[in-house]
Amino acid sequence: MSLNGYQENSLKKLQRKVLPFIYRKDLRKLATFYGTDKWNSHWYAQHYNKHFAPLRLKKLNILEIGVGGDDDPKSGGESLRMWKTYFPNSMIYGIDIVDKKALEEPRIKIFQGSQDDESFLRKVVAETGELDIIIDDGSHINEHVIKSFKILFPALKHGGIYVIEDTLTSYVPDINELKFVSEGVVKKWPQLGGSLDLNSPNTMVNFFKKLVDCLNYQEFFKPGYSPSYFDQHIVAMHFYHNLVILYKEKNNEGGFYLENNTLKPHVLKYLGIDSLDDMGLKIPLLSE
Ligand SMILES: C[S@@+](CC[C@H](N)C(=O)[O-])C[C@H]1O[C@@H](n2cnc3c(N)ncnc32)[C@H](O)[C@@H]1O
Repeated sequence: MSLNGYQENSLKKLQRKVLPFIYRKDLRKLATFYGTDKWNSHWYAQHYNKHFAPLRLKKLNILEIGVGGDDDPKSGGESLRMWKTYFPNSMIYGIDIVDKKALEEPRIKIFQGSQDDESFLRKVVAETGELDIIIDDGSHINEHVIKSFKILFPALKHGGIYVIEDTLTSYVPDINELKFVSEGVVKKWPQLGGSLDLNSPNTMVNFFKKLVDCLNYQEFFKPGYSPSYFDQHIVAMHFYHNLVILYKEKNNEGGFYLENNTLKPHVLKYLGIDSLDDMGLKIPLLSE
């Protein structure tokens, strides 16, 4: 039996209403339904399922940088709609350099501005209040991603999660690192601040790799060490293909051998000394 035009339209309308409900607990299916590249193109939805499942029904403030849809003000918003369905009790905020206000709907609010504009980001946070989840899927320019993180991570609640997508731009060579065969290619080459140098200090991957040490700052042999905000507030980091996920909480479990970056008294006792000076040593030993 074939359907007439009216029946086909009604069926499509019904599917648009029912399928999000059926798919509501699986971000792979929701991403496919709404058409964001977080699944089928990138493979992030599987990781989001794992990290976000315990939070799904909570009342959260969620911010995503990058609404999508290029320069068309009426196009994009796929991932914002996906988050809205997946988190039925949450408020979803979007940021985009293009005016995407036309895509607002109940529980979706969109701000126009650049993610590397500090005063704009501060105004956004003043309006949203503290955030539970921040997802950076914006310009993917290395400098922007690092700058946004430095500004927005402190605006995350304790227990909050910060996500950076598309870390692949760390590896896209800078224009000055390449020899081009034609002027046309030069003009089109994306300038994202990546590098052929895997140790480049400017890439987001190297920035986040360095933050791994924050997890363990209480184990540094550095008496008098003054912990940074990131030392004190990053408690977990997950690195996936093109994706980094950080958890914020008070990082204060205490050191194993050290307290305030100095050997604990019972360790000194075990060593049979009052201080490392008794051994003719000072810490840090070699870096002094
Ligand atoms: C990959 S798309 C976002 C896709 C969307 N999050 C999704 O999953 O469906 C990237 C978006 O970032 C926006 N963008 C580019 N540069 C930006 C900047 N400096 N600040 C904020 N948004 C920017 C673009 O306009 C584009 O809409």
